[in-house]
Amino acid sequence: MANTSRSRPDAPLPPIQLDPAIRNQSLRVRAGLRAAILDGLLPPGTRLPSSRDLSRTLGIGRNAVVAAFEHLISDGLIEARHGSGTFVSPQLPPAQQTATAPDLALAYGKRPPFALGQTHVEPDFLARLGAATRRAIALARPADLAYGDPRGTRHLRTQIAETLAANRGIRCDPDCIIVVTGTQHGLRLCADALLTPGDTAWFEDPGYNVSRATLTAAGMTLAPVPVDAAGLDVAAGIANAPNARAVYVTPSHQFPTGVRMEMTRRAALIDWAEATGAWVFEDDYDSEFRYSGPPLTALAGLSPNRVIYLGTFAKTLFPGLRLGYIVVPPDALERVLRARPALDRFQPAFLQNAVADLLADGTVATHLRRNLRRYRAARDLVAQCIVETSEGRLTPDVPEHGLHLIAWLPAGTSTATATEIRSAAGVETLLVSETRMQQGEREGFVLGFSGHAPEDLRIAATALGRAALTTLSSSGGGTN
Ligand SMILES: Cc1ncc(COP(=O)(O)O)c(C=O)c1O
Repeated sequence: MANTSRSRPDAPLPPIQLDPAIRNQSLRVRAGLRAAILDGLLPPGTRLPSSRDLSRTLGIGRNAVVAAFEHLISDGLIEARHGSGTFVSPQLPPAQQTATAPDLALAYGKRPPFALGQTHVEPDFLARLGAATRRAIALARPADLAYGDPRGTRHLRTQIAETLAANRGIRCDPDCIIVVTGTQHGLRLCADALLTPGDTAWFEDPGYNVSRATLTAAGMTLAPVPVDAAGLDVAAGIANAPNARAVYVTPSHQFPTGVRMEMTRRAALIDWAEATGAWVFEDDYDSEFRYSGPPLTALAGLSPNRVIYLGTFAKTLFPGLRLGYIVVPPDALERVLRARPALDRFQPAFLQNAVADLLADGTVATHLRRNLRRYRAARDLVAQCIVETSEGRLTPDVPEHGLHLIAWLPAGTSTATATEIRSAAGVETLLVSETRMQQGEREGFVLGFSGHAPEDLRIAATALGRAALTTLSSSGGGTN
């Protein structure tokens, strides 16, 4: 190969693409040649033009080309042969086709109206978060750059403890708080640490699909426990799965029904957990958003020894932040912390400290107050629009709390009819039946109203209301 090349003194310009985004000339040439070699455009043994020719043709300084060649030589991609020139290394393995990912229909980025889990973030809030993050990086101590405390930074944990004491009736030592990426991460961590695959856990029915998937992935056998107007039916849980080792609940605002668990049920649940030694996973995902009525003390405030409290910044701030926290009973702390390095060790200290600064200086509280007003207006807009356009066929449950509502269909409406209405309306919405483990009684649409533009909500609510009106009128009610 080398001999053949030597017989062609003027090597042609290699087929390289220079990326203008790379400011440094030498790095630009190096990246272009490297990609051409790895993609097989310059096969092993190919002779490269001299640095002088390449510099002239590419319009890049000769020194930059020489430096790029030197780098590629030290990378082993090209070699210089004395008196012959520079060649692509003959020993390189054949170029591989880049494997392309399958086209999966995963919903990222801006999501349509009624998609759950959206929040509104003002540019001013982001500017403050940016400034706080830059400050946290500039002021980083060596400890912030090293392997950190698996619980997260003390600064953030202290702020979380103060907020929980003020708003949720939970008094906890900041050292019992573990900062995680979100509710599911905390749930998985605790399931791995405190339960054994094959253990039974009670699960609300209907309930939050994602938590169901998380506990199932951790090897739990889930026992569906019905939810009624008073919340989780504890007596049914005891009757059906008395040996359960854990329970997953959303007592402040049941997902998806929106029911608030009554005090007698809370007491019964705590009694059962304390008597059997079961763990209570309390998902308190949206309790910061109360439109009326006083806040309810969290279960963790009633039984700090059996309840693991799961909180998230996904709703109060935004899901892309990936920050949440769990409050772990002192007796369970060591086991949970031991399990953490196998998952992810900890969240970056900079981000934690930046968020802690914004909690401490009141920026988060202001952001929440503004969003509460915004979300209340969105809730009312959707509820009113649904009633009007469906001419009463859909009955929204207007929640005092949270970021979604259920628009119920008339009793007896089948899931097939609900699906037909959803397709006709072309809106993003879960059906209540899609959150159930067992056959349930009533069908409805779970509508997220936070973080969507009012006009988009109006259009989607009108489409859903009209589709319900048309479908139910023509099918004589759509019942089974
Ligand atoms: C019931 C429930 N729990 C928890 C969460 C938050 O999950 P994460 O913090 O894992 O993003 C959500 C988000 O939509 C939710 O609906």
